[in-house]
Order: sequence, then C-alpha cells, then structure tokens
Amino acid sequence: MVKEVLKEEIQKYINANLHVDLHSLLLKKSPFPEVSIQEIVQQIKGKQVAQKKFPFLLKEGIIFPPQLNLEQSSSEKTALYKSEILKGKKFIDLTSGFGIDAYYLSQNFEDVTLVEQNSELLEIVENNWHILGKKATFINQKLENFLNKNKETFDVIYLDPARRDQNKNKVFLLEDLSPNIIEIQKKLLSISNKVVIKLSPLIDLKYLISVLPNIVRIEIIAVKNDVKEVVIFLSNENSGQIICNCVNLENEESNFTFKFGEEENAHAEYSEPEKFIYIPNNSILKAGIFNLISEKFKLKKLHPNSHFYTSNDKLYNFPGRVFEIEVIDAKQIKKKSQFNIISKNYPLKPEEIKKKYGLKDGGKSYLIFTQSKKGKIILKSV
Ligand SMILES: C[S@@+](CC[C@H](N)C(=O)[O-])C[C@H]1O[C@@H](n2cnc3c(N)ncnc32)[C@H](O)[C@@H]1O
Repeated sequence: MVKEVLKEEIQKYINANLHVDLHSLLLKKSPFPEVSIQEIVQQIKGKQVAQKKFPFLLKEGIIFPPQLNLEQSSSEKTALYKSEILKGKKFIDLTSGFGIDAYYLSQNFEDVTLVEQNSELLEIVENNWHILGKKATFINQKLENFLNKNKETFDVIYLDPARRDQNKNKVFLLEDLSPNIIEIQKKLLSISNKVVIKLSPLIDLKYLISVLPNIVRIEIIAVKNDVKEVVIFLSNENSGQIICNCVNLENEESNFTFKFGEEENAHAEYSEPEKFIYIPNNSILKAGIFNLISEKFKLKKLHPNSHFYTSNDKLYNFPGRVFEIEVIDAKQIKKKSQFNIISKNYPLKPEEIKKKYGLKDGGKSYLIFTQSKKGKIILKSV
C-alpha cells in the first residue's frame, strides 16, 4: 500500500488534477520521487468513482485501490438497502474486496470480521476503516483456508464472489465464480443460519434454485430501473418456500414480493389497449412474473410476449411506469416531432423507428410501439 499518497503536497496535487485527462497525465513524470504517476492516477480515478458510487469515502486519509477493485465494489445505495434487512451480533464478509458492502452491511452488528485474499487491498481497507472509525478483525487468507480452520459461528455470512475469468468476460454460472458457492454451501450453513450472497443481475433464477437447495429468499435490486444485483439468502430453516422481493431503489415505486413458483399457477387476462398502459420495472421483468402481475394487479396483458398491461381505471401502486394513452395510426405521426420511443415485441428498434418517421428524441411525450393479440399497434401518451 502506498501510504505516501496521503502526504499533504501529494493530496494537493491529486485534488488539483481531479478533472484532467488521465491518459495524458499517465504520460507525464511523477513530480514526487516517492510515488509513481500510476499511483497518483489510481487515487484520482478512485476519487472520481467515489463521487458517484461511494461518496462517503471522499474524506481525508482514504486510499483508493486499483480500478478493478473499484469496479467490483458494490455501490453505497445497494449496500445501504441490504444493511436495512440484516442484523445480529456476529457478521463476517468472506470476500471483503474494497469493503463497501461490509462497511454498510455490518452496521447492525457488534462483531465484524473481513476475509480477503488480496493483502494489498485488505491493507487499504484496514487503513480506511481506521479513518472512518470502524472496528473489525481483518484476515488476509483464502476463505477456503479460513473455513477449514474456523470453529466460530456467525449470525450472518456475506459473500460477493469475484469473477474467476481472467479475460474479464462476464460469467454467469456459479462454478465460474470465486469462491465456488456450490462447493462450499454446506460448510457455510454449518457455521451460520443466514448466508447472504450477491450475484450478477444476469444470473438465471431457476438455475440458482436448482443448484442451491437452501435458498429461502431472493432480492432483485434495481437502482433507477437498472437491475444491479441478485442477492440470495441461504438458511437451514428451509420450508421449501422461496420469497422473492423485487426492489427499485431511488424511485417512488413500492417493492413487490411474491412466492417463487406462484407464476406457474398464475393466469393473465388479455385485452386490447384501454385508457392506461403499465410497464413493469426491470426488477419485476427480471423475476419473469408476467402472468402474476396481471393477476395480482387485476390488469390485462396486451400480448403473451409484450409485457405491457392495461386498464381503464388508473392504478397508483404499480411497480413500474404508467401512461395514459391513445391508440394512433402511423399516419398520425408528424415528421420532426419529438418523442421518447419505447419499442418492445415490435420488429423495429427505437433508432430505426426514429429514422423511419423522421422523429426527434426526447421531450415529455412517449410513443410506444408493440403488439397486442390483434397485431402491431402504436400508442401515444396523452
Ligand atoms: C466482488 S469483490 C467484493 C467487493 C465487495 N463486496 C465490496 O462491496 O467492496 C470479490 C473479492 O473477493 C475476493 N476473493 C475471491 N475469491 C476469494 C477466496 N477464495 N478467498 C478470499 N477472497 C476471495 C477477491 O479478491 C475480491 O476482492
């Protein structure tokens, strides 16, 4: 760890260069003999990322790790959400990384342990937690070794596995993650009754349930309609029922909770567009509960493959967007008018639609291109 970057004159230089082009800066020579220009750029990059992702770290004395570790960290927003649903006495994060999750998730615990195989990274976390006034036991080990020797039990074990893939391809099977959860699940459940694991938003939920029999809860967490995490809870008290919670943070929308498997028995009603159109948020779409949404909210679906719903009376608690609409004919679309374009289950993509009708992007109005059971339709927000 390069503690020298904390020297006053070096921090001044870093803060003065927060907005310069980093590629050009990298070509320069470091003005300070004790730190390289790469180390300086690493700190600048860290502060830039922190502004958006974890502003609580924009403090004197904080050191930032290399970019990969910044990218792998959770955001303050999702970490804060997870912290609200966890509490107990003893917390352990077996894949600490830069410790963003651990910092928040351990808020409601008295005893905190962090395990991380990367010694430089863990030293940085230790430095930062000291600055932030937060106590923990820091263990620099491979978690498999730790688990083999460990005799303690924990109220919550948290893991956010890294991608094993060296060429940075996104991997979606549990076997391709480090650690391999399938291999260590029994061991984890022998020392805790609550194992919480963060996974990629692209992971398949049915696959997860097929390989991890102790799942009791799934949280699908989106921030501003962008699904960021799928978080699973394993427990020994598995009644066979899995609760799934769809969340869209930084939004007024309420969460939607259901029992996994409910979709299989749910039936959707269908209709041509009525006065209001509903577009579920992406955490609902990720859950794949297309019929259940129709059933639970008493909304009619437009088409089996268009996940749009409709009603004559406005529903105010829908987890997604609602538009009052009218059905229009393509001939009514005026050239050069301005619309936000939504295209789902329609042969043309928004870009192609814009070109075809000579439309400008943006503004307050929406044009929705989709299909009902009768065929292609265009809906205009009113
Ligand atoms: C995705 S990052 C964790 C990020 C963290 N949740 C945060 O919010 O900052 C995963 C971390 O797990 C560590 N890791 C992966 N496999 C490990 C293993 N077998 N033993 C210990 N640490 C491991 C990696 O070195 C990496 O730092």
